[in-house]
Amino acid sequence: MNIAVFASGRGSNFHAILNAIAEGRLPARVTVLVSNNSNAGAMELARSRNIPAIHLSQKQCASETEYVGRLLELLERHDVELVALAGYMKKVPTQVIERFRNRILNIHPALLPAFGGPGMYGLHVHEAVLAARAKVSGATVHFVDEEYDRGPILLQKTVEVATNDTPETLAAKVLTIEHEIYPQALAAFAAGRVHIEGRRAWIQ
Ligand code: GRF
Repeated sequence: MNIAVFASGRGSNFHAILNAIAEGRLPARVTVLVSNNSNAGAMELARSRNIPAIHLSQKQCASETEYVGRLLELLERHDVELVALAGYMKKVPTQVIERFRNRILNIHPALLPAFGGPGMYGLHVHEAVLAARAKVSGATVHFVDEEYDRGPILLQKTVEVATNDTPETLAAKVLTIEHEIYPQALAAFAAGRVHIEGRRAWIQ
């Protein structure tokens, strides 16, 4: 399975995906890394592994049409079958979602549908979980559709929230879980064990 990873930041989930591939847990290849941020750690990581690292942001394009066209063209050129968003801070254009319907996954650092949506990224998520005095948090792998953080949920795993957790310690616990379940979900997809019917997605 040919995967495109979209990442804006340090790229630890991208790293976890590459590790899973190297260790034979994920029968796939990352054929391209796309980032809106030329300084992203994920870009550096891709280059160090000889994976094409493409910097593409809307700002480089004269119009939305040009931007979408370039995105679709590069996904085609790299024979992408599945898009894995891994800390990608930009909205995926509607035409890309339509073209890759049920073939775009995202990882979110909380148990959706709670603590998701606009503004819920990075430490804000963990701050909100702590403010709500939630007893558990976790990570969610879900399909991406037109609604932010609302696509069908595929895989989740919980972590306990300790009374002395800070946003930083909770983020670290959740990140460990992310690195576990994202490659698992991708491996299930590669094995044809992922099914989706309407809003219900599951691994068989
Ligand atoms: C992760 O917490 C992920 O859940 C969220 O963005 C963060 C990306 O971290 N979508 P990294 O760049 O993979 O380290």
